[in-house]
Amino acid sequence: MKTSVNICGIEFKNPLIAASGTFGFGKEYSNFYDINVWGGICTKGLTYEKRLGNPVPRIAETPMGMLNSVGLQNPGFKGFVEEDLPYLKTLDTVVIANIAGSVVEDYCRLAEALNDCDVDMVELNISCPNVKEGGMAFGVKPESIKNVVGSVRKYCKKPLIVKLSPNVADITENARAAEDNGADAISLINTVSGMAVDIYTRKPILARTIGGLSGPAIKPIALKMVWQVYNTVKIPIIGMGGISSAKDILEFMLCGASLVQVGTYNFTDPYAPLTLLDDLTKLMADCKIQDINSIVGDLKER
Ligand SMILES: Cc1cc2nc3c(=O)[nH]c(=O)nc-3n(C[C@H](O)[C@H](O)[C@H](O)COP(=O)(O)O)c2cc1C
Repeated sequence: MKTSVNICGIEFKNPLIAASGTFGFGKEYSNFYDINVWGGICTKGLTYEKRLGNPVPRIAETPMGMLNSVGLQNPGFKGFVEEDLPYLKTLDTVVIANIAGSVVEDYCRLAEALNDCDVDMVELNISCPNVKEGGMAFGVKPESIKNVVGSVRKYCKKPLIVKLSPNVADITENARAAEDNGADAISLINTVSGMAVDIYTRKPILARTIGGLSGPAIKPIALKMVWQVYNTVKIPIIGMGGISSAKDILEFMLCGASLVQVGTYNFTDPYAPLTLLDDLTKLMADCKIQDINSIVGDLKER
């Protein structure tokens, strides 16, 4: 049974990637299990300068997921290179650096700096709803996607994944803008904009009022967008949004994802990849799937 996947010339031993922001830089989870089981690990969003993120409270539970407004709390490029990269380099899994910035030049500077670092791919986060400036502002209109992706492409020598926001009118226009301006792959979706209210204090629960919804509640939105984008672009797609079972993984792949990322489920089940991989091979056997790659985009018409 084949579960390995190759995109952009990079070999993943299985289709599961730990989603950005839900796995830190891997160290915390490595106390629980061998994190090399992941096909890949995507880092917390990095900015060139260190950031503290947003004020607390910045997490709220919802019936089928969670809201967060963590913002881009991260050690910055220097901290990453000194503290986190030495550990990541010891791993036998694909390492993806998720990057963000406030202005286009920030993204370019960081992408260029990462050329000399031992990371396999770069994921451009132009879809974070939780930072005041930048973030989602870059990722909602085709013109601004053209600008940021085209600019970063000139500096980035690594395979470039562009991560799209679901908080848009037409995801296909944005996917096309990313592909036309140099993306090697597209990942989607980032969180869906939402809010939570405390009836006793009559205040919003999150300090920044609005946050990003993730988890099973957003899976149908994510599936739709993966399928729409699969029917629009030729480059590979990495799908995510609410994956919490092997069945979910197959659904995303049938809709067109070559690989998937698992985010919020890491909080629900800290052993997420072990559970998912075990179930995935069993389910592949049940569904008579010899090679996981054979089902990508194989959604039949009704
Ligand atoms: C606490 C938290 C922090 C996140 N931080 C980032 C981030 O730094 N960069 C990014 O591109 N996405 C970030 N995300 C979005 C996830 O990578 C993913 O796109 C989203 O949560 C949907 O997947 P899920 O439903 O499996 O969690 C974050 C999500 C959560 C829940």
